[in-house]
Parts: sequence; C-alpha cells; structure tokens
Amino acid sequence: MPNASATSHPNEQTAAPTDATRRTFIALGVGALGACYAGLIGYPVYQYLATPARKAAAIGAVTQTVLDGADKLPAGSVLMFKFGPNPAMLIHHTDGTWVAFGAVCTHLACTVSYEPEQARIYCACHGGVYDPKTGANVAGPPPKPLTRYKVEVQDGRILVSKV
Ligand code: FES
Repeated sequence: MPNASATSHPNEQTAAPTDATRRTFIALGVGALGACYAGLIGYPVYQYLATPARKAAAIGAVTQTVLDGADKLPAGSVLMFKFGPNPAMLIHHTDGTWVAFGAVCTHLACTVSYEPEQARIYCACHGGVYDPKTGANVAGPPPKPLTRYKVEVQDGRILVSKV
C-alpha cells in the first residue's frame, strides 16, 4: 500500500513553480519600475547639477573666436557675440582702437551693454558701471573688472582670443 503522506495532490506539485515564477516576475517588474522612476527623478537632478561644470569646461575649451567681416564695424559702436557659451562684446572706439570683453557682469552675471553716449559699459541689473576702454569696474556693486580678450585685426576679420 502506498504511503499516503508521500503522495500529494497533483495541483500542489505544479503550484510551487508557478508561484515562484510569478513572484520573480513581480519582483523584476517592481525593480524595473523603481529603476525607471529613479531615472525620471534622477536625470533632471543630474542635468541641473552638472550644468555649471559643463559650462566651465566649455568656457575653458574655447580660446579664440573669429569674427568674419567685423573689421567693418563703424567706430563708436559695438558688436555682441558669443565667446564659447557666454556673451561678449567687441567695441570699436572712435579713436580707432579695438577692445573685447566678456559681457557677463562680475556682480551677479547679468549681461552688460555698451553705452557710447555715456562712455560706459552698463549693467542694468544693479547699476554696475565699467570703463569701456579697460573693462575696469568703476561704479556700483561689481567687484571685479570684465574679462578682457586680445583683439587682432587680420585680413577682413577680427580674431578675439583669451589673454
Ligand atoms: S549683476 Fe551687474 S550690477 Fe549686479
């Protein structure tokens, strides 16, 4: 006579592998969902935190900008351009000299503008004033001069490079 305790119901033998498979599937699904959720939250946070480092690397990588045709800029006027990712300005003074500065205010990084009628570079955010010949901070809250670039006029174009 067969041992009654050794036999089991046929459904019990097949139920164990099915439960394990279902549990594994659910665990994998929950894990994948968690990974997606972490990615959705984490990626924007990573982008936000990494942007200043990327900007700094981009600024460091750029050493020169070529401005084709900029030698025709009338005296007493300005040409705004990008030096890497940042705004910059090329000024052709009425005495024939050229200067180029970063156009980012050294106070809180607003973009400055050249005002030839006032003979100044002005930051409208908090009233910062810079000397348009040297870029020196002369009034208002800016703590440092503007970044100055080297300017070379060559064959119909202007080369602006880091000093
Ligand atoms: S940001 Fe330019 S004066 Fe404050």
